[in-house]
Amino acid sequence: MHRCPEPAIYSQGHMETRAKVTSVTDHPFDWDIYWRNGAKGDVDQMSMGARNMAVRLTKFIEGKGIRSLADFGCGTGETLLILANEHPNMEFHGFDSSTVAVELDRSRADELKTLNIRFEREDVRDISTRDRFDLVMCIATLHYIKDIRKALRDLFARVDRGGSLIFNYPNRSSMYGFRDWIETEAPELRNRYRLVLRGENLLTLDDIRETLGKRPLNFWRAVGEEPSRQNMCVYVTKGQQ
Ligand SMILES: C[S@@+](CC[C@H](N)C(=O)[O-])C[C@H]1O[C@@H](n2cnc3c(N)ncnc32)[C@H](O)[C@@H]1O
Repeated sequence: MHRCPEPAIYSQGHMETRAKVTSVTDHPFDWDIYWRNGAKGDVDQMSMGARNMAVRLTKFIEGKGIRSLADFGCGTGETLLILANEHPNMEFHGFDSSTVAVELDRSRADELKTLNIRFEREDVRDISTRDRFDLVMCIATLHYIKDIRKALRDLFARVDRGGSLIFNYPNRSSMYGFRDWIETEAPELRNRYRLVLRGENLLTLDDIRETLGKRPLNFWRAVGEEPSRQNMCVYVTKGQQ
């Protein structure tokens, strides 16, 4: 089983190296096939990550009066399911571009009889919902998006006044970390991470500030963890920074 690195939001740290990227193709990665095939054994890792993320989000939302949370690229939906069961008075919305993931998540919500959660198909490259939420998150998903700035603007547009957008994103350090990890341990993931490996969708903190018109703050620090350069996770608050 290979490790899923960018939910290295789950495991931080990697030495910065300069491994070369070889034979990256342009073949699009099919998330429906990925989810239909049982997520290639990544599910255990994601599950652990989801639990950790739920703890972090619980710390983050404490005292902020958050009533609604939307997760774009929600994958297994597990973070939301954990939180939805712990916060019956809040509304949770899971969005994913994979119809297969959405169907799996809906069945899981039915199984758990979780009523305050909805799963819908949405592509962050072309968001159709006009709803706004107190908290919007997008974790381990922007790595696959070429026009990452447009996606950020569209995600931020879905945040209600006073609410926040939380996301992690690829930067130069994560590109070197991914190159090293994929070349040495997981060459089969070259295609999936091609945009990051080629440095085509990297962001800096200044890019984010310029794109959203707000200074991003470090999410790790906000939840009492050591910040990671390779797995930058930030939040931007609308109207109150
Ligand atoms: C690596 S998983 C991360 C899942 C979850 N956020 C987590 O941290 O465990 C990436 C997820 O993004 C979804 N995804 C990929 N491209 C997307 C897009 N353009 N719009 C919405 N979701 C997308 C995939 O189907 C997958 O569920």
